[in-house]
Amino acid sequence: MKRRTPASVPGTLKRWWADAVGYQVYLRSFADSDNDGVGDFGGLIQKLDYLKRLDVDFVWITPFYPSPGDDWGYDVADFRDVDPLFGDLQKFDLLVAEAHERDIRIVTDLVPNHTSSSHRWFQAALGNSGPADRERYRDYYIWRDPAPGGDPPNNWVGYFGGPAWTLEPDSGQYYLHLFLPSQPDLNWRNPAVATEWDDIVRFWLDRGVDGFRVDVAGGLVKDEQLRSNPQLQPIPPQASRWEQWDCFEHRHEVFQPESQDVFRRWRAICDPYGAFLHGETYHLDPRVMDDLLPPDGMHSGYWFAPMHIEWAPNAIREALRAPSDTLASRLLWATSSHDMPRAPTRFAPPDTGDRPAGTRDDWGAARTLVFNVLTAFLPGTFVLYQGEELGLADGVVAAADKLDPIGPDGDVTAGRDGCRTPMPWGDGPYNGFSGVEPWLRAADRPHRESAAAQAGDERSWLRAYQALMEVQRRVRPGFAVNSAAVEWTDDGSGPIISYRRGRIAVAANVSETFHEVHVPAAATEQYDSAAACPHPHADVRSPCAGDSSSGTRLLAPASAVVWET
Ligand code: NOJ
Repeated sequence: MKRRTPASVPGTLKRWWADAVGYQVYLRSFADSDNDGVGDFGGLIQKLDYLKRLDVDFVWITPFYPSPGDDWGYDVADFRDVDPLFGDLQKFDLLVAEAHERDIRIVTDLVPNHTSSSHRWFQAALGNSGPADRERYRDYYIWRDPAPGGDPPNNWVGYFGGPAWTLEPDSGQYYLHLFLPSQPDLNWRNPAVATEWDDIVRFWLDRGVDGFRVDVAGGLVKDEQLRSNPQLQPIPPQASRWEQWDCFEHRHEVFQPESQDVFRRWRAICDPYGAFLHGETYHLDPRVMDDLLPPDGMHSGYWFAPMHIEWAPNAIREALRAPSDTLASRLLWATSSHDMPRAPTRFAPPDTGDRPAGTRDDWGAARTLVFNVLTAFLPGTFVLYQGEELGLADGVVAAADKLDPIGPDGDVTAGRDGCRTPMPWGDGPYNGFSGVEPWLRAADRPHRESAAAQAGDERSWLRAYQALMEVQRRVRPGFAVNSAAVEWTDDGSGPIISYRRGRIAVAANVSETFHEVHVPAAATEQYDSAAACPHPHADVRSPCAGDSSSGTRLLAPASAVVWET
């Protein structure tokens, strides 16, 4: 493959990600080309035309590096290679070439907070490749002697629950891990670690990658003295992992300012390639996000509030307005991911038991589409999670088939299997994802949920998302890059949320009843989600009539409209 050098990148410093549309591919569940039950690069290449039809500008691919798979790829054993499950480096090069051929950019996942315990650095740190290597690599990780009495060195807990420290019996020292014990944290205070990562970043940029998603961007550098966190309350017995986490003020192990130095380094490396750097910035306060995204750091941060809210007008408004006003194009908007229940599951009204068994609740999907209409035209980068364009709720995984290491423990993020089930491409066994039992067993989805069925149905979720993306692509040249010029036009309460940006006006009805909205002067309607999708409300069968004489229009429940003026 023709290698790309910084100098050969056209339009190097153009911020191509501003107002762009991304698509998150959870690779092992996307498309299986070699019938081993695991999605792969070959499958992704076969589906690039499908993604092109959806008008996406870039694809973010979850980790495909060699890995024991304890955390399904986020435990990386070699940052410069491809796990044979997914292909090899040549296949990766082909993917980049085929994607670029279609003007689709490739964004990959960097996992810099930790490695797999089977990574050669950690094995060397344990002394498994001789004393010289132990000497060299020991300090790549964070080791401490036990506290008096043999306890862990401090009170930090991991994101997956339990102490963030595991004792290594041979040396009698503990090592730090914010996730599984088989995901030891790197010591970012060691300059050698930073140098390794400069090379890793360049390695992928030189292969043609267009940007990175930085996993656990709030992690990396830890408090130099590894001080204990202030404890807010004792950890109750049987506490879920989030309840454990919430017992502490996380002052010393996450969001340390020194991590910004790492992002500055990477930004300096990425900029000459025109590459996009966005972080998994897991913080729900826009003011903190502002600090995490300085002008010379990561270009953008993933905004998590949409994954934590209930379907209620003020909660939706809060998840949109302050962050958009504060951060504008530095935000990455997404409503679903491989870590949380899919938005149609979260946004679905409670099941009152009057639905026929096995049928899906389309209200969740209709609400998700509304949220996506609202965010698609705001400044920032808009990302769909695979299957979101099909209106998919979580897949059904039997208890005995669950694979996620963090398992169900009663909290909302527990057990991530449901959002990771294979893509339903067609009918038949395994919905055309693979010819054999997929890596994650799930109930086959009904015909109407498959991409093939929806492509042939004018009023499907797929067609509704295709139409939305078409409008977004057509109107966005009118948005100035970096423009924060969003004017919120609703009254700040109630079920209508609306704004204007340039010549575009968006209004959404987030309630269960019809509401009248004001139609902007000289406006042409570009999109009506109720008319575009298989909306669940019985009275929504055609576009709601606009009453141009009174300048108002009825908005169906759970629907959104886009106008151009
Ligand atoms: C965030 C990833 O999205 C998640 O899947 C993973 O378990 C953790 N980071 C640890 O890498």
